[in-house]
Amino acid sequence: SPTEPCTLVIFGGSGDLARRRLIPALYNLLLDGLLPEKFAVLGLGRRRMSDEEYRSSLREGVEKFSRQALDEAKWASFAEHLFYLAGENDAPDTFTALRRRAEELERTFDLPGNRIFYLSIPPSSFTAVCEGLAQAGLATPLSKAPPYSRIIVEKPVGRDLNSAKEINAVTGRVFDESQIFRIDHYLGKETVQNLMVVRFANSIFEPVWNHKYIDHVQITVSEAEGVGTRASYYEEAGALRDMVQNHILQLLCLVAMEPPYSLDPDVVRNAKMEVLRCLRPIVGDDLKRCTVRAQYAAGTIQGRAVPDYRREKGVNPNSTTETYVALKCFVENWRWSGVPFYLRTGKALPSRASEVAVQFKEIPRILFNADVQQPQPPNVLTLRIQPEEGLSLRIVSRVPGTREQTVPVEMEFRYGEVFGQASPEAYERLLLDVMTGDASRFMRRDAVEASWAWITTILEGWQQQGSRRLPEYRPGTWGPAEADRLIEEDGRLWRTL
Ligand code: BG6
Repeated sequence: SPTEPCTLVIFGGSGDLARRRLIPALYNLLLDGLLPEKFAVLGLGRRRMSDEEYRSSLREGVEKFSRQALDEAKWASFAEHLFYLAGENDAPDTFTALRRRAEELERTFDLPGNRIFYLSIPPSSFTAVCEGLAQAGLATPLSKAPPYSRIIVEKPVGRDLNSAKEINAVTGRVFDESQIFRIDHYLGKETVQNLMVVRFANSIFEPVWNHKYIDHVQITVSEAEGVGTRASYYEEAGALRDMVQNHILQLLCLVAMEPPYSLDPDVVRNAKMEVLRCLRPIVGDDLKRCTVRAQYAAGTIQGRAVPDYRREKGVNPNSTTETYVALKCFVENWRWSGVPFYLRTGKALPSRASEVAVQFKEIPRILFNADVQQPQPPNVLTLRIQPEEGLSLRIVSRVPGTREQTVPVEMEFRYGEVFGQASPEAYERLLLDVMTGDASRFMRRDAVEASWAWITTILEGWQQQGSRRLPEYRPGTWGPAEADRLIEEDGRLWRTL
């Protein structure tokens, strides 16, 4: 559907996300000619600022974080559409002022009244904002559309099942599910979108995409950075909530789901939902066998000093928040019967690298695989999400010459080589989706709750283990020894990235 003219209201408009990701994304959409000709952006924040001051702070963000360089003339025409309003999220005044300002902008730019509200604020303010919008008559009910109103909900959508349900209830009282766009920015990444294409636009993968041919799957999302300036959020979250509940489980769904019968958003989301329903809960003894959590100790990564996590600014010196987590889990359905999915993510690891690796089963121990001491390395299909986006398939080849020798080699497809320029950022894709009303790449209410239900079981299990010192790992290493044991006990190894 077309991208209709609209007003984007950003709660948390003076925050980091707006400056680093949202505004640069809009600017790139404009450069690519994808933004509607008529639009307005209204940032809301506590700080007092003029429109001019707001624009210059956003300009800095674009200079620093935009995929495409700042072009003076283009920036000037873009900046004319950016506005700022100071206000508290829980003050009724804010919403009267917001309404007045939105209507004014709609007159100035001849906009039809389509409104998108972006909640880039802590969940503790969601109720106040949703109610404020409703009371000020800013949330057009679906029955009255067009013009439409839509709401974008940033993570964290809760910190456990109950709080996620509360958030869903609060937003659900004011907006219809079809008006709510829960962001998981991984779903906007080019390579993540490609997962479904690789699986379902090719004929050679799907026939072997099951327990008969696949030995196991590894999903890794590693980051070299430590907690940085986000300690106050991260301390309350930890790696399981921060990365697994959303990004990693979404990747798992895309790898494991059944072929949807169409690309209709709800058909795709139903297929993903079924994967979440099939995840075996990790309880009892499995907590020890299938979960590892750890914290980074002091050390260096690529010559950069990293303090002990518990000595980071804003972190409790006795913190038991995990900065690393590894899990082994099972999707209990016919296709995946007995196939482990190993998931791991952490801060202060050797590099920023995310990938999904599908390892196939060993070939029979005859012909080229008769040497028990040195079995042939199995085929691995690797989907590299970032950096160096691409896909590679490891196969065994004969070494040219007269000696009978074999080696594993990689068949490579690199985005950079094939497509040239850098892919659009996730937020570009996702903001455009909201403008066109396409919810395929957003989290549906039931999926958010299903993934929180599975995660909450683990969190409760950990809680019952009592708060004790977590194992440590040295920055710049691939996590604690316990994580190696988790996979080695099964006769497998983590991949080195
Ligand atoms: C966010 C997490 O959702 O994703 C951060 O809150 C993490 O802790 C980030 O750093 C990683 O995103 P990306 O796009 O850099 O892989």
